[in-house]
Amino acid sequence: MKRLYLIGIGPGHPDFLTLQAADAMRRVDVFFLLEKAGRGKDELIALRREIMCRVLPDGDYREVSAASPPRPRAVDRDAAAYRAIVADWHAEKRRIFAELLTKELTDGQVGGLLLWGDPTLYDQTIGMVEQVLRELAEPAELTVIPGISAVQVLAARHRIPLNRVGESLTIITGREAEQVDPASVHNAVVMLDYNASFQRFVGQEMDIYWGGYLGAGDEVLVAGPLDAVLDELLRVKAEVREAKGWLMDTYLLRRRGTGEPRD
Ligand SMILES: C[S@@+](CC[C@H](N)C(=O)[O-])C[C@H]1O[C@@H](n2cnc3c(N)ncnc32)[C@H](O)[C@@H]1O
Repeated sequence: MKRLYLIGIGPGHPDFLTLQAADAMRRVDVFFLLEKAGRGKDELIALRREIMCRVLPDGDYREVSAASPPRPRAVDRDAAAYRAIVADWHAEKRRIFAELLTKELTDGQVGGLLLWGDPTLYDQTIGMVEQVLRELAEPAELTVIPGISAVQVLAARHRIPLNRVGESLTIITGREAEQVDPASVHNAVVMLDYNASFQRFVGQEMDIYWGGYLGAGDEVLVAGPLDAVLDELLRVKAEVREAKGWLMDTYLLRRRGTGEPRD
């Protein structure tokens, strides 16, 4: 039987790799690198190669790369039309992956995908792969190895717990942060925010804990009362994005005074 490991590698530094992930990598015969187009792609691929070199210094594995089709943009389309386009995009990704599994992995071999952060958080790979495996002519087994997510690294870098005593934590996308009633948000991590949506939360008595390129050498952090640090945050974001050409950031918005005191 063919086996496939989806391995979480953490969000931006080889040291985030868990012992379980390293152990799983040593059992992989073929690593599939699905290369996404876009800024930053070279660095993201380079990190995966660095991890492979560190864990498997003898190079005792095969690497198979394939271009991953670019995600369609949502601009100027109604919701139904956009959903249809996204469905086509998913179908194309499944087709490419099914072909890789069929042609590049033989019976008894283990294939591996190194997934950014944790594979269960804002990552559609598990669902995509499960569907491919269901449709495959031969049976195959799927294993998911958890990883450290950008959310955990954000909290650790700012030396804060993700929630105060008895408090819940919400994780939302930038798109939701753009639409939600700011008064309804108490303690939320925002990911995939391309529009600095935290600006909508000014005047809400909130603190922000922001991190860009978490874990990487050029990691940058900003924290404080949102109203007070807003200008600094917008300036830092613009500067680092300009310098590097792309930015990956995550932040926690926390309403002051609604949780138990921290100390
Ligand atoms: C498609 S999601 C994948 C999340 C990933 N599965 C995880 O567990 O962290 C990508 C988003 O995660 C966040 N992210 C991932 N890596 C990051 C990093 N090194 N620094 C800051 N944010 C990061 C950003 O919000 C980015 O838009």
